Amino acid sequence: TAPILRKLADMRAMTAQWRAEGARIGVVPTMGALHCGHMSLVKAAKADCDRVIVWIFVNPKQFNSAQDLANYPRTEHEDAQKLAPYGIDAVYAPDVDQVYPDGFSTTVSVTGLTDVLCGAHRSGHFDGVATVVSKIFLQTGADRAYFGEKDFQQLQVVRRMARDLDIPIEVVACPTVRDPSGLALSSRNLRLSPEGLKRAAGLYPVLRDMAAELADGSRFAPLAERARARLAEAGFDEVEYLELRSEEGLSALDHADRPARLFAAVWIDGVRLIDNLAVPAV
Ligand code: PAJ
Repeated sequence: TAPILRKLADMRAMTAQWRAEGARIGVVPTMGALHCGHMSLVKAAKADCDRVIVWIFVNPKQFNSAQDLANYPRTEHEDAQKLAPYGIDAVYAPDVDQVYPDGFSTTVSVTGLTDVLCGAHRSGHFDGVATVVSKIFLQTGADRAYFGEKDFQQLQVVRRMARDLDIPIEVVACPTVRDPSGLALSSRNLRLSPEGLKRAAGLYPVLRDMAAELADGSRFAPLAERARARLAEAGFDEVEYLELRSEEGLSALDHADRPARLFAAVWIDGVRLIDNLAVPAV
């Protein structure tokens, strides 16, 4: 199995060696509690890099509630076992002070893209993400980094950050992995009861039906009204947002006149779930 490194200096010594050998390095940033969605990123990284690092760090700066941070699943032993068959080269699970040393006072903040969707509802979340992902890119010096479309807004924020800061890394997007019911895999699903999981599966069919109607040229507003009613019926406690936005720039759209996505955040049994689905331009 791959070594687990805790110290920046050790990780850097290793990647310096790899670079000296001319290896192309890939990094898969995660917060652990690994599932098949994460593994699809690992597979993609293995397929086109010579060396692969999996980053595991529950980043305190991106949680806007202490409760959510405390409840976040931590399953490091199982994570290491799940990674074993993939033949990655190292797990980097830094101690907190390796990422945020005493006196840490810098924030990386992407404007615009972060005003909407999750950014509007989770204050400070994307500053925490942009800050830690800058550090992931700079600490590892990787050539490529793998992100899931499951967190589409995060993917766009990270791309913009890397471009704006001239960080020489290629951000690679991987499609959302779903369970057979259509529910997008997420570490947060671990917090749902079996019954809650069944109800959570009600989100995907609603998104899928909306996407089909939008692809036929329907306008968003009337569809959204019906979709919200369906979600309430399916047992969701709250729809935090349900929106149609452009893929590029995340502008709100009335119909899919350019490559677009449906975005949803819903609550079930005190757990917040997000999902999104591509809508082809009509
Ligand atoms: P985490 O939620 O652990 O997700 C790590 C990566 O796995 C993200 O790029 C996410 O989009 C991807 N992922 C999660 N579920 C997926 C699914 N069902 N299908 C495909 N990909 C999926 O996202 C984070 O951690 C953090 O914000 C991080 C980027 C690590 C910064 O702390």
